[in-house]
Amino acid sequence: MQITKAEFKCSSERISQVPKDDLKDIAFIGRSNVGKSSLINMLTARTGLAKVSGTPGKTRLINHFRINDAWYLVDLPGYGYARTSKTQRSEFSKLITDYVIKCEKMHFLFVLADIRLEPQKIDLRFIEMLGENGIPFGIIFTKADKLSKTQREKSVERFRTALAQQWEELPPMFVSSSEKAVGREEILDFIGECLRQ
Ligand code: GTP
Ligand code: MG
Repeated sequence: MQITKAEFKCSSERISQVPKDDLKDIAFIGRSNVGKSSLINMLTARTGLAKVSGTPGKTRLINHFRINDAWYLVDLPGYGYARTSKTQRSEFSKLITDYVIKCEKMHFLFVLADIRLEPQKIDLRFIEMLGENGIPFGIIFTKADKLSKTQREKSVERFRTALAQQWEELPPMFVSSSEKAVGREEILDFIGECLRQ
């Protein structure tokens, strides 16, 4: 799929504020700092479309980017932060769970995981929650430029093994680098397929 037009549409702090049209959402989630916003910029080839930061917790709202006037790329706040906040009892914020579980626009969700890390408990628990709620999702490993090809394969295999303990069928998986534009075509083609369903 080619992206010919990409524009910021809106930021929402509640799901009642997300766009009311019938365009489908393809959303990106994962731990803070995993590279969600960078990936959105890489996929759209627009530097600075989504705000990137070295400090975790940069994206705090649900950000909709309208693509080709046909669908939305959605940048979600990172999870894995809630545990440090006294006012936040749940591990995943209400904003995230409301959006993922209740929002009808949400068509497909990519869970991002840093390729350098062992499967993180919080990611596995989030994925389990997706399964329990029947949410269609895939996994994108980020920051592949930080590892050699052999190390990348090892890392993906490790994740596959962790998931195989929970799941009979594994979700689609992609390896990406926003620095080196790795995985761009593959992910965009997958999104194209996804939108046709
Ligand atoms: P929050 O919005 O805070 O949840 O973070 P995020 O997941 O949107 O991460 P963001 O895209 O802001 O990137 C976090 C940091 O990782 C930044 O310093 C990026 O430059 C860096 N980063 C993101 N993707 C890559 C990548 O593919 N390779 C490398 N080497 N660094 C990356
Ligand atoms: Mg972000």
